[in-house]
Formats: sequence, structure tokens, C-alpha cells
Amino acid sequence: MIILAIESSCDEFSIAIGKNNKIIANIISSQINEHSQFGGVVPELASRLHLENFHWVLEKALLKAKVSINEITHIAYTNEPGLIGSLIIGRLVAQTLANFLKIPLIPLNHIHGHIYGASIEQTFKFPLLSLVASGGHTQIILSKKHLDFNIIGSTQDDAIGECYDKVSRVLGLGYPGGPILDKLAQKGDSKAYKLPISKQDNTYDFSYSGLKTASINLIRNLGQKNQKVDINNFCASFQFTAIETLISKFERAIKNYSPKCLVLAGGVSANSELRKKMLLLGEKYKIKVCLPKMEYCTDNAAMIAALAYETIRKENI
Ligand code: KG4
Ligand code: ZN
Repeated sequence: MIILAIESSCDEFSIAIGKNNKIIANIISSQINEHSQFGGVVPELASRLHLENFHWVLEKALLKAKVSINEITHIAYTNEPGLIGSLIIGRLVAQTLANFLKIPLIPLNHIHGHIYGASIEQTFKFPLLSLVASGGHTQIILSKKHLDFNIIGSTQDDAIGECYDKVSRVLGLGYPGGPILDKLAQKGDSKAYKLPISKQDNTYDFSYSGLKTASINLIRNLGQKNQKVDINNFCASFQFTAIETLISKFERAIKNYSPKCLVLAGGVSANSELRKKMLLLGEKYKIKVCLPKMEYCTDNAAMIAALAYETIRKENI
């Protein structure tokens, strides 16, 4: 089986090619430079850029994989969730290719794709507990077997990545905020500023709007008093609080569901502190940890190809 997978749900257009469960190409056209001047993703611009870029991404993926278009046996694409204009471009490219080649077309879920991004170089064990942390989602998902996704906790307001991006914008640090704050945090003191850890209750749900508001208020209050924010210390304090909020809820879920494997998924899985703390949880509870390789953390089509492989096997497509 040779799978061509397309991911276009936000501001990346990506095509990957998988030979069975092995990724042989993963090409990503990123639009970060075009959106950063606006401080975030402009949906209309994202879909227009997808239209401009998809053809060379396709050509480059086939070239890298050294396969001809006629050798492709399945087309997979992200059909939800995401920006509607961006999703439509990916779907149109996928449908056109599948109709032209007369091969099966497989619509897949972006969040499920992120989870399978961690399976590319590791083997999952079940039950599997996933911590999904991205620009649009913050969830804990329990899987008793392959392709079984049971959401046990979710954010009640903002997603963690969104919180990083908004705080970064207020600090004037640029977009996307996650990698920028993460880098600066490594040079600061995490105890310098006190920020709130929200929703310390018995659920597995999260809340990030409190941390966002407290961070913005702290920055503005210091500004009004003509006091400078120590950027490195602020980033370290923010990162400590944002990650502790995730980890404390995930640890509660580990104790309750006794998983055999822990998975980190979504763009925020690239975070240095989060990766470290997930490994520590694995050590503490003696559970296998599957972290995605850095190139499979933020949006990419390789994760969609990995999810497609399991789907094709299960449904005998
Ligand atoms: O999964 P993703 O590429 O897109 C969505 O599906 O949302 O995630 C993007 C998010 C952005 O909010 C970005 O700031 C965040 O992932 N991110 C990070 C890091 N790298 C990316 N957040 C914290 N630390 C990072 N190192
Ligand atoms: Zn994503």
C-alpha cells in the first residue's frame, strides 16, 4: 500500500507519502511568515496560500518519495476540525486525485492524526492515554484499542497553544508564541512571577482563559507602574504554570485509568518542559511514553498517513 496524505486544516499545506506504515516523504509548506505580520492566522489568507502552494508540495513529495503518481493506492486527507476554507482546498486536491486515479479516498480527523503522529517511530500499547495540546484543542483522550478515541477531558475555554500565542502577542514577541516563549523560558526563573493554576478540581477538564487574563493583567499593571517585565522570568513563570496545569490533570487521569502507554500530541508537544515532564510521569508510573519526533509535532501530513494506515487495515479498504 502506498498512501498519499494531505493536511491543510490551518496555515500549513502538507503532503506525505507512506509506504505501509513507513513515512517516505513529508513536505510542509508553512505560512508563518505571511501570517506573523497580523499576529495570528488570517483564515482567508491561509486558504488563498494553500491554493498557490499545493501543486509544488505535491510534486516535491512524489520526487522525495521516488514514486510515480500511478503507484499511489490510497488518498487520505484531513476533513475536520479546522478552518473551513483551508480544509476545502485539501479536500478538493484529495478528491481530484482519488477520482483521477480511481482509488479510495479516506477522510480523517486532525486530532486523531496528531495522536498517530506519535506512532510513526514507536509502537502503541493499549489502553493508551493521550494528552492533546495544540492551538485549538486541549484534551485527554483514552483509547482501549487502535482507532478508539474516548474524550475524557477538554478545555472549557481557550486552548493551551492559543494562550501561548495571545500572551506572546501582548508581550510583542511574535507569532506563533509557543516556540518563542518556550525558548525564552529556558533562560528565566519560573518562580519570579506568581500565576494561577486553573481548575484544580475532580474533573479532567482544563481552563486557560484565567491564565491568559492573569498574564495580560500582570504585564499591563507593571506597564502602568512604569516597571519593566523581566521577559525571561515572565516566560519561565508562564511556562511553568501552563504546563503544570496540563500535567496535574493528566496525572489524575493516569491514576484513574491505569494506561499502558502515554502519548503526547498536538503542536504544544514540541514544548521542552512538557516533553520533560511527560517522560518523568512515565518513569514515575513505569509506563511507556510515546513522544512524537519534533517534525511530527506541529501540523504535518505524515501523522495523517500514519492514521490512514491503521484505518485502511481495520476497515479493509
Ligand atoms: O497542532 P498545531 O500545529 O496546530 C493546531 O492544530 O492548532 O499547533 C500549533 C500550536 C500553536 O499555538 C503554537 O504556539 C504551539 O502549537 N506550539 C508550542 C510550541 N511549538 C508550537 N507551544 C509551546 N511550546 C512550543 N515549543
Ligand atoms: Zn494541529
